[in-house]
Order: sequence, then C-alpha cells, then structure tokens
Amino acid sequence: MVAALHGTALGGGLEVALACHYRCALASGAVGLPEVKLGLLPGAGGTQRLPRLVGPEAAADMIIGGNPVAAPKAAELGIVDEIVEGDLTAAAVAYAARLVAEGAPLRRIRDIDDKVAPARGDAALFEGLRKKFARQARGQPAPYACLESVRNAVELPFEEGMKKEREIFTGLMASPESAALRYAFFVEREANKIPDVPRDTPKREIKSAAIIGAGTMGGGIAMNFANAGIPVTLLEVTQEALDRGLGVIERNYASTVKRGRLSEAKMKDRLALIRGVLDYDELAEADVVIEAAFEEMELKKEIFSKLDAVCKPSAILASNTSTLDIDEMAAQTKRPGSVIGMHFFSPANVMRLLEVVRGAETDKDVIATVMALGKKIGKVAVLVGVCEGFVGNRMLHGYGREANFLLEEGALPADIDRVIYDFGMPMGPFAMGDMAGLDIGWRIRKAKAASRPRNVRYSPIADKLCELGRFGQKTGSGWYRYEEGKRAPIDDPEVEKIIVETSAELGYERRQISDEEILARCLYPLINEGARILEEGMALRASDIDTIWINGYGFPAYRGGPMFYADQVGTKAVYDAIVRFAEEQGPQFWEPAPLLAKLAAEGKGFLER
Ligand SMILES: NC(=O)c1ccc[n+]([C@@H]2O[C@H](COP(=O)([O-])OP(=O)(O)OC[C@H]3O[C@@H](n4cnc5c(N)ncnc54)[C@H](O)[C@@H]3O)[C@@H](O)[C@H]2O)c1
Repeated sequence: MVAALHGTALGGGLEVALACHYRCALASGAVGLPEVKLGLLPGAGGTQRLPRLVGPEAAADMIIGGNPVAAPKAAELGIVDEIVEGDLTAAAVAYAARLVAEGAPLRRIRDIDDKVAPARGDAALFEGLRKKFARQARGQPAPYACLESVRNAVELPFEEGMKKEREIFTGLMASPESAALRYAFFVEREANKIPDVPRDTPKREIKSAAIIGAGTMGGGIAMNFANAGIPVTLLEVTQEALDRGLGVIERNYASTVKRGRLSEAKMKDRLALIRGVLDYDELAEADVVIEAAFEEMELKKEIFSKLDAVCKPSAILASNTSTLDIDEMAAQTKRPGSVIGMHFFSPANVMRLLEVVRGAETDKDVIATVMALGKKIGKVAVLVGVCEGFVGNRMLHGYGREANFLLEEGALPADIDRVIYDFGMPMGPFAMGDMAGLDIGWRIRKAKAASRPRNVRYSPIADKLCELGRFGQKTGSGWYRYEEGKRAPIDDPEVEKIIVETSAELGYERRQISDEEILARCLYPLINEGARILEEGMALRASDIDTIWINGYGFPAYRGGPMFYADQVGTKAVYDAIVRFAEEQGPQFWEPAPLLAKLAAEGKGFLER
C-alpha cells in the first residue's frame, strides 16, 4: 500500500498515510499532526507510528508543536519516502511499480524499532522534552498527554500503546481546554458572517493598495500587502521619513531571511512590490488606501479630503486609527460610504487581528470587500462598531486600571504578572508595560491631567516611575529592572519602596491579596465591558469578542476568550463578584452591566443569549 499525497495531509490524513507501507508526495505538499491545537492528540495511531518512523524527539516536535512540515523536510525526516513530480497518480503508480521491481519489503511502521530503541528507559530525554514545551504547554493537559503517548511508543508494544492512545484521547475530548480550543477554532470562521452583509454581496476588486505614513504601523501594514503579492504604495511627508520607513521594512525582511524563514529571492519580490512616494497624485490608481499617520483628528481630516480629491471613485478609504471617530473622517469626503476603519495591531506584520470598523454610512460592499481583503492578507478580520477604543482596547482599560489599584492595596508587580502569566497570557500587565514603553501612556496622562476629575480614584505609581526616567526595557528599568542587553524582568526593591510609600500616602493599609482576587479584579472589568459592548451592538456576537482577544491580545485560546471564560466561571459568579467589589471598592468602576445582571438572573451565559 503506497500513499500518494497531493496536498496538505494533516491529522487523520497523515495518520492514514502512516498506516501504509510507503509514502510519496508532491514537493508542494505538507504533512502535520495539529490535533494538540484543539487540545487533543493524533488519535488514529499518530502518536504510535510517527515516533517509530522519526524517533521520539522529532515526533514530539511535530505532535506537541502541532505545526505542519513541508514535504521536502518530511522526506529528510523519513516521513515521506519519495518526492515525486508532475502527475501525482502516474508518478505514484510508477513509484509503487519500482518498489515491487526492487523487491522492497512490506514495511509496517509498527514493526520499526531502531528509531525508538535508543530512547528506551531514557528518563532524562523525556524530562528535557517536558521542559522544552513547558511554556507552550502551560495550563493545558494536551501537550503533556501527547508527550506521554510518544513515550508509550518508545516503552510499550504497539498494541498496548494504541490502546493507551485511545484512552488518553477520550480523556482529552472531555477536557474544558479542548472544548475551548475547538470553540475558538469554529468561532474564528463565524466572525466572517455578517447578518446584513450576505455572502453574495458584490465586492470591489483590490489589485493595489496605498498606505499613508511609513511609521511603526504603516510599514508593517505595507508588508502585509507585499507578502500577499499585492503592490503597495507608501506615502510620507518627507524623503527622510520615507527612507527611514523603507529602511525598517528592509531590515525586517532581512532578519526573516537570516532566520531561514524567507528566501532571498522572495524578499526581493516582496520589496519590489513596495513603492515609496511623496506626492498624493501617485495614489490615483490605488483600490484601497489605509491612513496610518499620527493620531490627530485635524491631520486625519486633512488627509481624507486630499485622498477624496485624488483617488478614483471606486477606491476605499480606510483609517488605522485606534481612538478617533471614523464618521468624522468620512464626513470630510464626498464618499462616506467608501470610508471604513482598518484597525491593525502592533507589530502589524505579525499580529493576526484586524478590527474592521463599520462607520455609520459604510456601504455593504465596502464591508464585504475589506473583510475578504483582511483574510487575503492573512488576518483574522472582525467587524466592530464606532466607539472609544473599539472592542479590544476598550476592554483593556479596566484590566490595566485594576492591576494598578491592586499595587496600592498590597500586591507587587511580580505577584500580578505571575497570576496573569499562569492564567495563560504571554505576560502580565507590568512586564507588558515595560516592553511597550511607559512614556507613551505617561505623555497622554499628562496631557489629560487638567481635565481629570479629582474625585475619581487615580493611581500615581506609573507616573512616579516615569518621573524617575524609568520608561521600561528601553531605559533599563521600569516596573522591573533589566540587565544590560537582557529582557528578563528582575524585581526591584526601589519600585517596591515607591509602591509601599504610595499606599501610605493614599491611606491604604497594605494587605495580603489572594491570587483569586488578583485574577478576578483584572479580568472581570474586562468581561463587564464586553457585556456593554454587546448591549450597544459594537460587536455582533460574544464569540467575536473572544476572537478579538485571542488573536490581538494573547488571551489563551484554551480558555476560549473572556466571554467563553465568563460562561465557564458562570455569569452569576462573575456578577456576584462585581457586586462584592462595588461594596468593597465603591461603585465608581464596578457598576455591573445590565446584560450581565440579566444573564446572571436568568442563569444563562453570553454564548446562549
Ligand atoms: N503603534 C501602535 O501600536 C498602533 C496600533 C494600532 C493603531 N495605531 C494607529 O496607527 C496610526 C499610526 O501610528 P504609528 O504608531 O505607526 O505612528 P508613527 O509615529 O510610528 O508613524 C506615523 C508616520 O506617519 C507619518 N505622517 C505624519 N503625517 C503624515 C502625513 N500628513 N502624510 C503622510 N505621512 C504622515 C510620520 O512621518 C510617521 O512616519 C495612528 O493613528 C495610531 O493611533 C497605532
């Protein structure tokens, strides 16, 4: 039995192929066992056959890593026996005939022992693998179950290993982590469905794009288009700014080439698709223009009227604004129906999330076009409404606020960061702040200081750090201190001193704060805001909010997103905690959203609403 692989053989596809005697594949194919990404393991013999074929280490990489391997690499590993060209069926038949002619044995993977034998009884090897995947595996049973099953392939006879594989698989199927991951997988696709913009809505053709501003965001956005093979024009105000922006893009690509993730030739192709200009007349033919200049309304208005004047009538005009009103920009043009928000996340060439902001007058075909365009450039596009911070950043607000308040009440940055990290986020709010730079927020707060009401609780600790020049990693200190050239946060007694002094100044008696309280104080404001967003119709469905948080903010997919998580905890439990916090902290920031109150009373979740 010879398997002929024409495309991507993932999961069951590869497992069937592994049950054959030999495998051939087109060079364009790929193989993989991605089940771990759904909180499962490759349960049709994948964990028992692959290690016997490639050894436990390479098998663990594929089974726990879950990423596909291109056919040529699979051939190197010994998963594919022959790379064939041209017509697959004819080539596969010829390959099979050759095997017969050569008297090749009927090779059953279950009988191969030489790759697993050396690892037998090698506890250190498996301990090493456990450590290797510890960060990725945090909080989840599936990666460890996969490792256990790979180990069974080394230690147990085939039949026994298969039996165990089935048992482990059944256990994982019932795990809440797997339920969350499968949910996250399906709802990401659901986000494409927009009730009043049916699938057959005509779309505008997008053959070229233009970006205004070659800064942090503009450069990254331009790369997305070049990566998808769409020519893109980048407009700046000065030659100097343009050169700087194009330089960053080149260095970005060069480092990808250096890491072996892109060929030199592909880099050249992509760079050739990016054209820098200084003159608006050069944008006349662009099908879509994305404005990513400074975050100032007057400037954006000016840019939109210029664009309206030079761009062809069918062109879509988009803004990457994080906080400003798309409708105000649209009002500057004679084509408000063609104006829309495309809110990318930083780094824009890496982060998958794209919030597509629907303005009051945005045409349906523009929405359909931009949702499809998002997909084409490799993003997860989610439709949101016009409101302060849109969906993601709007919800982030309360999370950061409570983290700071907790410091005043008794916690230290490392306590909070540990709880949030253990929950599954890539890092806690303070490590995150140090990475992003604390000076940006400080500047914004200073600008707004005069208009801040005095009777609203405000935490001054971050400002105090900035006054000392502690801007985070880039200055060697922030919420933590950093050793020269290193990124690992180190607890700093100086910060603790500032925090403790601030508690005293503000009259807070420092107390021991439990991990449960830290988690609830940080996450429940976010859920409460999510409920308001749903009530206001700023997101179409609770699952869209989850998709935003998983793809834009590193919310652990195995927890399903904040709204799914709320349902798991129970809306009543979340509501009760918020009411309790309102009693303890005052109602200022703890008004339960009416939707949350209603669901709690009805005993319902956000997803069954
Ligand atoms: N940085 C982020 O994390 C982030 C995330 C999402 C959205 N945004 C939004 O993206 C936009 C750009 O942010 P950024 O971080 O890239 O800023 P940035 O300062 O890095 O880049 C802005 C660029 O725009 C150029 N520019 C200014 N006026 C211009 C004009 N009239 N015409 C052409 N170019 C002009 C500047 O020279 C600069 O290179 C802002 O609206 C911001 O709110 C930023």
